[in-house]
Amino acid sequence: MSSRRKILATSALPYANGPIHLGHMLEYIQTDIWVRFQRAQGHQAYFIWADDTHGTPIMLHAQKRGIRPEQLIAEMDAEHQRDFQDFGLSYDNFGSTHSASNQHMVELIWSRLDAGGYIEKRTIEQFFDTDRNMFLPDRFIKGTCPKCKTPDQYGDSCENCGATYSPTDLIGPQSAVSGTAPVLKDSEHYFFKLGEFTEMLQEWINTAGLQHEVRNKLQEWFADGLQSWDISRDAPYFGFVIPGTTDKYFYVWLDAPVGYMASFADFCARNPELDFESWWQPDSDAELYHFIGKDIVYFHALFWPAILRGANFRTPNAVFAHGFLTVNGAKMSKSRGTFIMARTYLDHLHPDYLRYYFAARLGSGLGDIDLNLDDFLQRVNSDLVGKLVNIASRCAGFIHKLNNGKLSPELPEKKMYQSFLQQQPAIAEAFEQRNFQFAMRQIMSLADQANQYLAEREPWKLAKQEGQQSTAIAVCTQGINLFRVLITWLAPVIPATAASAGTFLNCPIATWGDLQQPLLEHQIEPFHPLLKRIENAQLEAVLKASAESLSTEQQSAAKHSESSAEQVISIDDFKKIELRVARIIAASHVEGADKLLQLTLDIGDQQRNVFAGIKSSYDPGQLVDRLTVMVANLQPHKMRFGLSEGMVLAAAGPQGGPYLLSPDSGAQPGDRVT
Ligand code: MSP
Ligand code: ZN
Repeated sequence: MSSRRKILATSALPYANGPIHLGHMLEYIQTDIWVRFQRAQGHQAYFIWADDTHGTPIMLHAQKRGIRPEQLIAEMDAEHQRDFQDFGLSYDNFGSTHSASNQHMVELIWSRLDAGGYIEKRTIEQFFDTDRNMFLPDRFIKGTCPKCKTPDQYGDSCENCGATYSPTDLIGPQSAVSGTAPVLKDSEHYFFKLGEFTEMLQEWINTAGLQHEVRNKLQEWFADGLQSWDISRDAPYFGFVIPGTTDKYFYVWLDAPVGYMASFADFCARNPELDFESWWQPDSDAELYHFIGKDIVYFHALFWPAILRGANFRTPNAVFAHGFLTVNGAKMSKSRGTFIMARTYLDHLHPDYLRYYFAARLGSGLGDIDLNLDDFLQRVNSDLVGKLVNIASRCAGFIHKLNNGKLSPELPEKKMYQSFLQQQPAIAEAFEQRNFQFAMRQIMSLADQANQYLAEREPWKLAKQEGQQSTAIAVCTQGINLFRVLITWLAPVIPATAASAGTFLNCPIATWGDLQQPLLEHQIEPFHPLLKRIENAQLEAVLKASAESLSTEQQSAAKHSESSAEQVISIDDFKKIELRVARIIAASHVEGADKLLQLTLDIGDQQRNVFAGIKSSYDPGQLVDRLTVMVANLQPHKMRFGLSEGMVLAAAGPQGGPYLLSPDSGAQPGDRVT
């Protein structure tokens, strides 16, 4: 056996700003399968990660909800971890970037970088929101694209033409926080001198085990020259204050990867036999791998190794990037119900189904992965239920009936057993290379062979024949042992099913080395179906629940933005709709409603109570006294929370919203909108 490797693997830290969806799960399942595989080879392998908790979006999100960011991230931490546990992820530690250990580590790294002369100060000009008293990140500035003139584009790039630019290039820039026009203001920022690491990075890129797509991308960035990286942000910000300042914070992307180290330090603190230094010092004999999405290669393959080197820590052996998840061939879409949250999936389906399906689709490259729901059902039912579980279920009964649950003392087909084991190195190599797709194909083709063997030997017939019963027991012993080989190889992929199989076999599924010794003269437990077939109704329920998790207003807005409106109503129809200017005279949260705010509207001659699905964009205090437009002659609509007497008009698109519509100044409550 090869020597015991020390392996530390991480997944990218999810933002503590929203729920986990199946796109995230693609990465987390990929990491988990790989780490479980390493452990099954007998290696010392850890899966370490955390929530990514800092930055402007999280700060604003908490403000909008009227809570402290600490409360928001605590809620998210609990929710994320519940999802991860229920998906069977076997991480060793889940930390937080908002922790004492991370602050300590960031400050240590900062002081080393500063002492090394890798930090410079520079004054930059940035958009500032005078209403909210804050500098605006690019994503919080909107305006018209300078190139193609599409309105409502973010400050860094245009969704329509793909142009990238700086926010100052936008035509008519607006703060997405307050809606006011921002002003330019000077501020002193700290920069990390990435350019000083050009040579070091060139070398790292050539020696680290990077995918060729990643290496090519990096070479392009090199060709453009490596710019210093802005690593500070001004108050107000949710993050760590930069030592020696009172109002400058570390940019979230500086402290986020440091979270990998801090989370491992927390893990070491709980396991004193582990020595943090020996895993992170420059000449460490441990291996370090980061699993990431293709969107964050820049941070992990340029900034991160340079920072580690600058702070005198070891660099990663590799970053493993993967592509994006699509559902039914398209980007996940809220209006199609294919934007599936981890929890929604778990409410209806067994985690091992998705784990297996992702494994069957994942290769070692950066290509996108499609979750085609028809294929998903078909593949899982045919491979896991029809092939794999079937082997055990065909054999178990006869072992119990004919031999009280005891396997025979010898395998009737030792050669066949050996021929299965001969595939182990190739399958292990495929796992090692993250070519899970190949491993799944090999395993399923051996499952076919096992089923074929049973079909030829027909133990169900032998069992009924005089004098053939010991042959039947032997054939079934062969079948059970082949099943054990396959489920042992699949255990990293379908751990819950493998655990039940271990109970059935009365022998836990552990390392692959165990397979050298088949189970003979061994007592097994009664067989219970290990996995059920997926029913179409379960998938429909997931789609339905995903669509329902949007408010009806958002749904119709999203639908309209995806398909151009058809011209189907006449002017007369339109005239039936009575639109009126309304003043919001009161606004409040609705107990128990995730999306709704309760509004009291003044429409001149009367007041209306309306429940509007706009909570994600507004906090009630912001709304009082502003004008908007409502449908005034809508039939009152009884809701769980009370009677809604009309609708307010809001815009929403795939990028955001809802945004309440408002009339230009001069309009009065009660005015007709024509
Ligand atoms: N917080 C940063 C990562 C910091 S790592 C020091 C971040 N968070 S994220 O929540 O946006 O994404 C977490 C991971 O999930 C990333 O690797 C990202 O690529 C991945 N995915 C997010 N959506 C995805 C899909 N739709 N498909 C596949 N992976 C996706 O980035
Ligand atoms: Zn454009």
